[in-house]
Amino acid sequence: MILVTGSAGFIGANFVLDWLAGGDEPVLSLDQLTYAGNLENLASLEADPRHTFVHGDIGDTALVARLLAAHRPRAVLNFAAESHVDRSIHGPEDFIQTNVVGTFRLLEAVRAYWSGLPEADQAAFRFLHVSTDEVYGSLAPGAPAFTEAHACAPNSPYSASKAASDHLVRAWHHTYGLPVLTTNCSNNYGPFHFPEKLIPLMIVNALVGKPLPVYGDGQQVRDWLYVKDHCSAIRRVLQAGTPGETYNVGGWNEMPNIDIVHTVCALLDELRPKADGSRYAAQISYVKDRPGHDRRYAIDARKIERELGWKPAETFASGIRKTVRWYLDHPDWVAHVQSGAYREWVQTQYAA
Ligand code: NAD
Ligand code: DAU
Repeated sequence: MILVTGSAGFIGANFVLDWLAGGDEPVLSLDQLTYAGNLENLASLEADPRHTFVHGDIGDTALVARLLAAHRPRAVLNFAAESHVDRSIHGPEDFIQTNVVGTFRLLEAVRAYWSGLPEADQAAFRFLHVSTDEVYGSLAPGAPAFTEAHACAPNSPYSASKAASDHLVRAWHHTYGLPVLTTNCSNNYGPFHFPEKLIPLMIVNALVGKPLPVYGDGQQVRDWLYVKDHCSAIRRVLQAGTPGETYNVGGWNEMPNIDIVHTVCALLDELRPKADGSRYAAQISYVKDRPGHDRRYAIDARKIERELGWKPAETFASGIRKTVRWYLDHPDWVAHVQSGAYREWVQTQYAA
């Protein structure tokens, strides 16, 4: 069995659902259920004996040690994190606590468990750390995309905390021999994406006639990857990645934010036209820029393709259509998310 942390969040939940759709190896899920953790994401697994959910903190060493001893996983996949850049600007402490201290404590608990395994199980064991392209900082227009050899230069409290966690993971391999794998992925989108992030926020705001807030000039570039492609990359790295290595994961799909927003608006015009015939793009509203906003991210994903044979399956056109469709088909999920702490957050962020 495998232990998946952060399994009630956007990518973790997609990963667990995909994993159990593709095989029968059981999953032990650990999630603290912060504002971003939503058990509704895993509702389809409620009666599934292959899935066990535990509510808890990756930084709770005693709990993690108990879970490892009781369930004896062959791998730990760490998705748990504070993940939103804007929140990290308003309040960095939770990011240090979970992403740095939490990862450290998780590594220590895993190291203690791994050290006690028989030799063959030790060799087969993997700790896979899910990280981000944001650790590399910002690229100038036209500069080559991030390779795994790119220097770390994080610019936000979020990316600094993720970079710190990546360094800890690396050190636990070099110092203690823990068989770790790190993936650094670009921007994901797809089902269960919390509507504080660009794409889901644009969809849900558009549908209720609210402004679509575009930061600064909207020309910041991100490399977008459909979440299920990220999940398949993680499965492949877990299966065949070399311990101690990092793998960049991306969609070969750089787009400026404003083009993303226009694409979402055009799909909504087609799939849910407004009764008065007006266009969703009329709701676009340019707002104050994010402090320290990284201008461009781009992932060079040749290593994972060359060494592990992984490539994304979706194009942006197919992935974004599926995503918009998913939000239109799941109004209850959106309503439940919005009735929680999300509302307060939107007030803090967009009051001005
Ligand atoms: P998310 O915010 O949607 O989910 C994070 C999950 O972690 C939530 O369920 C939350 O309850 C849980 N969590 C937070 N603190 C915890 C703790 N101390 N103990 C246990 N659980 C805790 O995030 P996401 O978008 O699903 O991102 C998952 C991982 O992937 C993160 O590590 C993030 O840095 C990384 N990542 C995200 C993206 C992206 O585009 N979303 C891209 C690259 C990498
Ligand atoms: O690159 C990977 C990262 O992608 C992950 O590590 C993070 O966890 C994930 O949140 C994401 O970070 P971003 O900051 O790129 O994502 P976000 O959706 O917040 O913003 C995407 C871009 O859109 C960014 O340039 C800021 C802009 N934006 C965002 C919001 C929420 C807007 O213009 N308006 C908005 O309201």
